[in-house]
Amino acid sequence: MESKVWVLGGTGRAGREVAAQLVERGVHPVLVGRNAARLAEVAARVPGATTVAAASTDEMAERIRHERPDVVINTVGPFAETALPLVRACLPTTHYVDLANDVDALSALLDLGEEAAAADRTLVSGAGFGVAATESVVVKLCEGRPPAADVRVDMLPSLGMEDGQVGEALAATLVDGLASPGRSRGGLAAPRLGDQPMTLTLPDGSQVKTAGLPLGELVAAHRASGAPSVISASSEAPTSPTVRAVLPLGVALLRIHAVRSFAKRRLAQVRVKARERPREHSWGHARVRWADGSTREGWLRTGDAQIFTGALAAEVAKRLAAGEGRPGAYTPAALFGPTLVESCAAVHLAPGELNPR
Ligand SMILES: NC(=O)c1ccc[n+]([C@@H]2O[C@H](COP(=O)([O-])OP(=O)(O)OC[C@H]3O[C@@H](n4cnc5c(N)ncnc54)[C@H](OP(=O)(O)O)[C@@H]3O)[C@@H](O)[C@H]2O)c1
Repeated sequence: MESKVWVLGGTGRAGREVAAQLVERGVHPVLVGRNAARLAEVAARVPGATTVAAASTDEMAERIRHERPDVVINTVGPFAETALPLVRACLPTTHYVDLANDVDALSALLDLGEEAAAADRTLVSGAGFGVAATESVVVKLCEGRPPAADVRVDMLPSLGMEDGQVGEALAATLVDGLASPGRSRGGLAAPRLGDQPMTLTLPDGSQVKTAGLPLGELVAAHRASGAPSVISASSEAPTSPTVRAVLPLGVALLRIHAVRSFAKRRLAQVRVKARERPREHSWGHARVRWADGSTREGWLRTGDAQIFTGALAAEVAKRLAAGEGRPGAYTPAALFGPTLVESCAAVHLAPGELNPR
C-alpha cells in the first residue's frame, strides 16, 4: 500500500517545493491547506497529488487524528505556535517533520523526545536549509571526537524569489525570530543579532560577510558538538555598523506585543519582486575547536536553498514512511547522519576543496 505523506501549507513556497521533491522520490503527496481553490490549482501541477482542505491548523489537527497519515510535513510557521497541537494530533500514529528554524520552536520540539519514543514515533525538526546545512557539517567534523570547546556555524542561503507577498507564515516567523530573547538552554547562551561579523572566503574563492543570527543552527550545533560555546551566524544578518547600532532598539520595540503584531501584519503584505538567486551556490560552514587547541573546518555546498529545503524535508519523510527512523525527537543529521544531505544534491567539502573526492 502506498504511504500517505501530508504536506501542511501545501500551497506555500516551501510546501510546493516539498511536494515536488516528494514526487521526485516516488511519493504522491496529499496537499493540505486552507483554500480549496488554491489547493486544486497547485495540485494540478503536482503529478498524483490529492488535497485536503482544512480552514485552520486546529482543523488540520482534527483531520490528522481522523485519517492517520503515515507522515505529516508541517510547513506552516511560526512553528512555536503551530507545532505542538499538530504533534499532539500526530502521536501515536504519525511521524512528524517540520521546517522550524528558530531556537524556541526547535528546542520545544526536541524536548518531546521521550513522549515520541513512548509512542514509537519520530519527530524531526529543522528539516530545511536552515539547521540542516550547518548541522550536517558539524556532525561530520565531530565524528569520533570528544566534546568540543567552541563552534561557529555560518549559513549562506542563496535562493530565487517569485513575485508575491511575504505572507503571514513567513512574516510571523521572521518577526518572532528577531524578537525572541534567544533563551539560553542547557547553559548555552544565544549570540545577539549582528554580533561577531566576519568575512568568510568560500571554497570557490569569493568572499561573503556574515554576522550573528541566533537561530536553530545554534541548538543543533551545540547538540552535535557538545561545545558549551556556539556562535550561529548568517549572510542574512545585518553586518553594516549603522544598522547594527540601531538593532537593539528595534529588537526591544518588537518585544512589545502591539508593535510585534503590527510589524507582522505589515511585513506579511510587503510585495517581493521576482529575482534570480544571487549566488550560484548556497553554503553551510562550520569551524570546531577542541580544548587541546586542534580545530576542524568544513563546508556544505548546494544550489538553491529553497530546493534543498524541499528535498531535505521530502527525503526525511520518505525515509520515515519506509520505517527507517528511530523513535524520539531529532534534528535531521542527528537522525540520519551527515550523508543525508548527499541525497539532496549537496556535497561536503574541506576548506579550499572545490570537488568532493
Ligand atoms: N528551515 C528552513 O530552511 C526553511 C526554509 C523555508 C521556509 N521555512 C519556514 O517555512 C514556513 C513557510 O514559509 P513559506 O515561504 O513557504 O511561506 P508561505 O509561502 O507564506 O506559505 C505558508 C503556507 O502556510 C499556510 N498558512 C499560513 N498561515 C496559516 C494558518 N494560520 N493556518 C493554516 N495555514 C496557514 C499558507 O496557506 P494559504 O495558501 O491558505 O495562505 C501557505 O500554504 C516559514 O515559517 C518559514 O520560515 C523554513
